[in-house]
Amino acid sequence: MTEAVSNLLEVKGLTVRYGGGPVVRAVSMAVQSGTVAALLGSNGAGKSSTLRAIAGLEPALGSVHFDGQDVSRLSSSQRFRAGIVYVPEGRAIVTDLTVAENLTLGSYFVDALTRSRRRQMVLEFFPEIATRLKTPAGLLSGGEQQMLAIGRGLMSGPRLLLLDEPSLGLAPLLVARVYERLALIQKEQKLTALLVEQSFHAAAKLAVRAWVMRHGEIAGELQAGDLLSREGRQKAINAYLGERREEVQNA
Ligand SMILES: Nc1ncnc2c1ncn2[C@@H]1O[C@H](COP(=O)(O)OP(=O)(O)OP(=O)(O)O)[C@@H](O)[C@H]1O
Ligand SMILES: [Mg+2]
Repeated sequence: MTEAVSNLLEVKGLTVRYGGGPVVRAVSMAVQSGTVAALLGSNGAGKSSTLRAIAGLEPALGSVHFDGQDVSRLSSSQRFRAGIVYVPEGRAIVTDLTVAENLTLGSYFVDALTRSRRRQMVLEFFPEIATRLKTPAGLLSGGEQQMLAIGRGLMSGPRLLLLDEPSLGLAPLLVARVYERLALIQKEQKLTALLVEQSFHAAAKLAVRAWVMRHGEIAGELQAGDLLSREGRQKAINAYLGERREEVQNA
């Protein structure tokens, strides 16, 4: 009973299809309030489709409960207003607009005071972009663009942040920096997030729970201890590889 209350997000039997067979099959997971969970898996596993379905951006079967309410029939904009904020993969920012304008886009519906408070908070977390407010976003480095994309998400005041591959296309040093900041935001803002990653290593720094997806299904589940241990890492690799794992382990 208590567990049900502390789960901010509960997904049951989520199934997504794009015309053909399902690319997400009966996925169930739950994210506790104030924690970060991760969805791992290789290319095409169905991670983004799962995240997009939770945000209401793809039609899906199954149920999505947010803070105890069934939001399965709500549109993406209604879910957004409820506090479910999706940050797409590939640094989705508007390259022609300045950094400041991109941040404003994230807080379009809030009053000026809230907007300025949130902007202050975002710029404290990401000082790299604080000094570039008037720069067109397209001129930022990859890492800075990712920080801006996350910052724009934070400007909406998310209760649940859905982060799609924040490490995509970034050099290892920048991945580390982005994750360092996310950890700080998590700690200070008690952020609840569901993070999609291909990299176990990156996700393990932040997440206290993770699921590995393969061919649209949950192939493995990892708890906090697994994310920090060698055995857990092997467990994740096994789940990634599925039936081929015997060959790889013996290789
Ligand atoms: N809009 C779409 N129309 C048709 N098929 C799609 C669409 N989006 C994704 N797919 C297919 O659904 C499957 C899952 O894709 P998805 O993008 O969810 O995977 P992913 O795990 O996020 O992969 P990646 O790590 O490459 O981002 C893939 O086979 C993909 O080709
Ligand atoms: Mg994806």
